[in-house]
Formats: sequence, C-alpha cells, structure tokens
Amino acid sequence: MERMLITGANGLLGREIADRFRGEYELLAIDFAECDVTRPADCRRVIGDFRPAVVVHCAAYTAVDRAEEEEAKALAVNRDGTRNVARECREHGALVVTFGTDYIFDGSSSRPYAEDDPASPLSAYGRSKWEAEEALRTEAPDHLLIRSQWLFGPYGRNFIFAVLDRAGRGEPLRVVSDQRGCPTYARDLAAAAKRLLDAGARGTFHFSNEGEATWYDLAAFVLSRAVPGPVSLSPARTAELSYPAPRPLYSVLGKGKYRKATGEVPRRWEEAVTEFLKTMRERGNVG
Ligand SMILES: NC(=O)c1ccc[n+]([C@@H]2O[C@H](COP(=O)([O-])OP(=O)(O)OC[C@H]3O[C@@H](n4cnc5c(N)ncnc54)[C@H](OP(=O)(O)O)[C@@H]3O)[C@@H](O)[C@H]2O)c1
Repeated sequence: MERMLITGANGLLGREIADRFRGEYELLAIDFAECDVTRPADCRRVIGDFRPAVVVHCAAYTAVDRAEEEEAKALAVNRDGTRNVARECREHGALVVTFGTDYIFDGSSSRPYAEDDPASPLSAYGRSKWEAEEALRTEAPDHLLIRSQWLFGPYGRNFIFAVLDRAGRGEPLRVVSDQRGCPTYARDLAAAAKRLLDAGARGTFHFSNEGEATWYDLAAFVLSRAVPGPVSLSPARTAELSYPAPRPLYSVLGKGKYRKATGEVPRRWEEAVTEFLKTMRERGNVG
C-alpha cells in the first residue's frame, strides 16, 4: 500500500481527507504539534522519515478577517509553509496535493472563474493563498492544486453551524445577500480530490458543489430544512456589515476542467447541504 501524509489533519478539510483515504493508503495524519509547516526542518523530518508517495497539504492559516492584522503570519503559514512542504516533496519524489481559494479573485467577473483567469486578491488571506500557489508552482511542478470555496462539514466551525446556533438561541439573523459563490461540502471536495488523483490529474482545478448562492440563500435554505419554528432572517449588504477583510462579491468557480478530467458532474449544493443536515441529525449534532 502506498503512503499518504496529511498536514493540517485536525482541520475541517484535513479530517475529511483522512476519512476519504483511510484504507486506500497507509496514512500519517499530522497537525501543528507534529509538524509546524513554517519550519523547514519539521517538514524535512516528517517527509524524509515517512517517505510518502502523496502529501495532501491541508495545513493553512484560514482566519480571513484576522489575517488583515496578521498578514506576516498568514504569509508564513500559507506561502512559506507551502514552499517548505513542496520543496521536500520534490526532494523525495512525492506528489503534493493542496487547496486554494476563490479569494484570490477580485469578484469583478460576470461568469464563473476559470482556472487560468488572472488572480487579483482583495484581502491579506487571499494574497497569502495566491503566494502559496506561486510557491507551489515554483517548487513542485508535479502537483495537484484544487481551488474551492465556502466549505462546510462536520468537523470544526462553519457557517451552517453558526446559523443553527443563532437560530437555536432565538436570535435574529442578518446575513450577507450580495456575495455570490457556492457552498461546498468538504466530504465532496475530499471525494473530488480522490477522483482527480485516480485520473492522474496534475495542475490547477476548480471544485465546488454545483449551482450558486449567496450566504443569505444558504441561511434561508438551512433554516427551512432544519428549524421548525419562525426565525427572523433579513438580508444585509457586505458594506453594511464592515468585515475587516474585503471579500469578492462574485466568486463562482467554473468546473468544466474538473468535469472533463473526471467525468463527474458535482451534485448541487442544496443536495449536499440536505445530506449534511441529515447526517448531523443522525449523530445528534443538530435538532
Ligand atoms: N474553509 C473554507 O471555506 C476553504 C475554502 C477554500 C479553500 N480552503 C483551503 O482548504 C485548506 C484547508 O482549510 P480548512 O478549512 O480545513 O482549514 P482549518 O480548519 O483552519 O484547518 C487548518 C489546519 O492547519 C493547522 N495549522 C495552522 N498553522 C499551522 C502550521 N504552522 N503548521 C501546521 N499546521 C498548521 C491548523 O491548526 P490550528 O487549528 O491549531 O491552527 C488546522 O488544524 C486550506 O488550504 C484553505 O485555504 C478552505
């Protein structure tokens, strides 16, 4: 059995990746305690000792708003961490699989973004993730980079849990209705990574669930499916909510390249959210 190393394995996506690939590879799932990716020596040690065929690099600085005040830290983890991991992968002949974000785009497009559309990040987080991509391309030409967006899943915090928590406390919700993207089930993203690997894909791909939505649409959908009583939900404009980090107002990702490489059409976000809520209900995580 081939070996796979997963960094950031305690995170929202890292845990899904481990679930998806367990049994397919001999896994080593590590996080900050075992390897701080900003330290080249840590990366050298874990990759040199384990000698994986594939490294799925999920470790990242993902605090989008805090990054505005901590840009150096975001760059250290995202750009330098990716460089360190990619360099050791090249040294040891391992394939790097890693993840990018729609926040590298500025939102001015009027059609879904293609993989080779120009990047123009608006935020410190977006800049750090774009620089991570550039470091990856320089250090490890043999790579698989999957850009995605608006992840939800059972592990860690996510927007859906935040909506359900507020509704459960009877608090009114004001939710952004002028940012358009697509909610994506982390489980589907992990499955997409497997499909791309199985197809021998290399380079950059976009993956999200199918369709598009605003955060308001997603909140309304979740409430309609999971909360029986009335909840006060009202739309808000991004400018009214004064987030520290600017976000692209439009960041739907075109998935034609993914469909061609794998033959798979991703399922729609409504279907994925419905399955997620059902799973959470069965586990007793939501009412
Ligand atoms: N979540 C989304 O909506 C989204 C959308 C598009 C792309 N992505 C990308 O998907 C990937 C995974 O994101 P995620 O949502 O799973 O993030 P996450 O839940 O924040 O997980 C990231 C993991 O990396 C760890 N980490 C942070 N700094 C580290 C360091 N210096 N060395 C080693 N590990 C470190 C974190 O540990 P601590 O918790 O201890 O800091 C955490 O376990 C990232 O590349 C992200 O940019 C995410």
